[in-house]
Amino acid sequence: MDYIKSPMNYIGNKYRIIGQLKRWFPKQIGTMVDLFCGGCDVAVNTAAARIIANDINVYVIRIFQSFQRLGLFATLDYIDETIAAWGLSKENKDAYLKFREHYNKSSRNPLDLYILMCYSFNYQFRFNEAHEYNNPFGANRSSFNEVMRANLVRMFPRLAGIEFVSEDFTRLDLTGLGPGDFLYADPPYLLTCGSYNDGKRGFKGWGEEDEQALYALLDRLDAQGVRFALSNVSHHKGRRHTRLLNWKAEHGYHMHRIAFNYDNCNYHANNRNAITREVLITNY
Ligand SMILES: C[S@@+](CC[C@H](N)C(=O)[O-])C[C@H]1O[C@@H](n2cnc3c(N)ncnc32)[C@H](O)[C@@H]1O
Repeated sequence: MDYIKSPMNYIGNKYRIIGQLKRWFPKQIGTMVDLFCGGCDVAVNTAAARIIANDINVYVIRIFQSFQRLGLFATLDYIDETIAAWGLSKENKDAYLKFREHYNKSSRNPLDLYILMCYSFNYQFRFNEAHEYNNPFGANRSSFNEVMRANLVRMFPRLAGIEFVSEDFTRLDLTGLGPGDFLYADPPYLLTCGSYNDGKRGFKGWGEEDEQALYALLDRLDAQGVRFALSNVSHHKGRRHTRLLNWKAEHGYHMHRIAFNYDNCNYHANNRNAITREVLITNY
């Protein structure tokens, strides 16, 4: 099957392994919750009667909500006009910095943030403590190119029916979910080098307490009869995710191996034993 790629190039996105994940997803889903949706690569590639996509990063959620509100043609017009008006290109650092200043100091328009991200280093959403976007320029590499445009166009029809929410996962009311429903959880990984953990994104990082709260939530959903799937790593750079493995064993959940090439993450670790094992844990 041909999967849709999010036009966000979101760090930690699951696009490359979506086919493997979906092998283990339920075939019939009433309500699907993508609890840590990020760039939304998983939600847009899942069929369900109702889809709820949540992320604590309210700025990313507002971009999706703007896409929905404006529709495809007005979105593309806005993007093209803004790029032309500000002279944005992958060579023009000065234009990028001026536009970033404009976004931070006056516009705060979610579509401007999307455009900024397209010209930024590694397409990342990074904010300072004042919630100003502070990712540097993606010189000679990043732009709203033809591939991004094509991905945006292809994603639009799938976005239409998704309900976007921005909450800390512990604050979502999931008590209405039951048998027939499905929750996918792709949290920041405690063991890996993802930059969510460093607290530099203007949002709180991810720590042991969050991990524990997530396991407790998944146990409650299990008791409600809701099916869940949790992405994570069981091993990383020679370390074993003992807490995860114990929790899984204690509750009799199932663990599936997922092939994932972590080269980008391991560039500084030349150790052959430093394996990373991506897994999917399910309660069904
Ligand atoms: C690995 S990424 C998800 C990537 C996504 N599955 C994709 O394919 O693009 C993890 C996400 O969790 C979000 N997050 C971190 N802490 C959170 C929290 N406490 N509640 C909700 N979302 C959170 C981050 O903002 C980030 O977008």
